[in-house]
Amino acid sequence: MHAWLCENPIGVDALQWKELPTPEPGAGQVRLRIEAASLNFPDLLIVQNKYQMKPPLPFVPGSEYAGVVEAVGDGVKHLKPGQRVACLSGTGGFGTHTLAPAALCMPLPDGFPAVDAAAFIMIYATSYHALMDRAQLKAGETVLVLGAAGGVGTAAIQIAKAAGARVIAAASSDDKCALCASLGADATINYTQHGPLGGLRDEIKRLTGGKGPDVVYDPVGGDFAEPAFRSIAWRGRYLVVGFASGPIPSLPLNLALLKGASIVGVFWGDFAKREPQANAAMMQALAGMYAKGQVKPVIDQTLPMADLRKAYAIMGSRSVKGKLVLVN
Ligand SMILES: NC(=O)c1ccc[n+]([C@@H]2O[C@H](COP(=O)([O-])OP(=O)(O)OC[C@H]3O[C@@H](n4cnc5c(N)ncnc54)[C@H](OP(=O)(O)O)[C@@H]3O)[C@@H](O)[C@H]2O)c1
Repeated sequence: MHAWLCENPIGVDALQWKELPTPEPGAGQVRLRIEAASLNFPDLLIVQNKYQMKPPLPFVPGSEYAGVVEAVGDGVKHLKPGQRVACLSGTGGFGTHTLAPAALCMPLPDGFPAVDAAAFIMIYATSYHALMDRAQLKAGETVLVLGAAGGVGTAAIQIAKAAGARVIAAASSDDKCALCASLGADATINYTQHGPLGGLRDEIKRLTGGKGPDVVYDPVGGDFAEPAFRSIAWRGRYLVVGFASGPIPSLPLNLALLKGASIVGVFWGDFAKREPQANAAMMQALAGMYAKGQVKPVIDQTLPMADLRKAYAIMGSRSVKGKLVLVN
């Protein structure tokens, strides 16, 4: 097997494509032949030693992937060789093969292509948990999605539309806004043209008839958080999803008081660990939505697995719409 090995977590340039011994699965593990692996934000942080989880060295990055079970370890009952699965295990995906924890493998129904499956769990689980569980989104409500053309943002648009909500998608270019409209967003805001000092608030106000969005989905943080929160409707829910722009914003708490609004934290990874049954039910619901065509990952492009460094560079350029996927 071959894999991208991180022996020294000082950045992407230190990763090396190496031949490694093909491992045998231990108890509770399966060996997968990887068909596709997607890039997620933590994949960049983890090779720079900036992610909260610090795997022992050396490790193979690649948090999310899909492939075919080749061998199963002791105690694995629900998977067998030949079965196709998707897995989000934190590491191991950027290679030709990996050992995956069987408990984290989601069997794939027929007709679920590997490229979609490798780009599915993280973004849809996060956005469904955020909108449907944490925010209790209802049909007819309005959702403002920031960073709407990114991975979790595109998933949020699709899930909110499937729930019968009105979606205002905000992104940094006309190109990205056009993608959001093609996914069903009812209105878009290019926030590069409407800066944080008033412009964004005015535009949100205009698009919501002065009422403001019932739910704000924020995976970006930074300068737009406060104007977005200031615009929120009475009883609004502000979903703290991530800080892709870097700075972690602070919000004046009097705004929560004045709007009867909630600031709601979203941490899908811990939800999955702490509430595994609720998470499993959610994943089943999402697989059903995929089968009905209500959700489908937006794939910006696929690249050969050997082009990981190029994929990281594209990801760093902030130009990706949806997801980047590496294939074997
Ligand atoms: N809480 C959770 O459970 C959870 C789960 C998954 C992910 N996350 C977090 O959610 C965030 C987004 O994840 P993602 O997978 O959607 O990432 P992504 O595909 O890279 O999208 C992030 C979006 O953020 C915007 N952005 C603004 N400033 C940026 C900058 N300086 N660099 C890069 N992007 C910037 C970009 O949109 P514009 O160019 O349109 O502004 C981009 O499309 C990350 O912080 C991730 O860690 C949280």
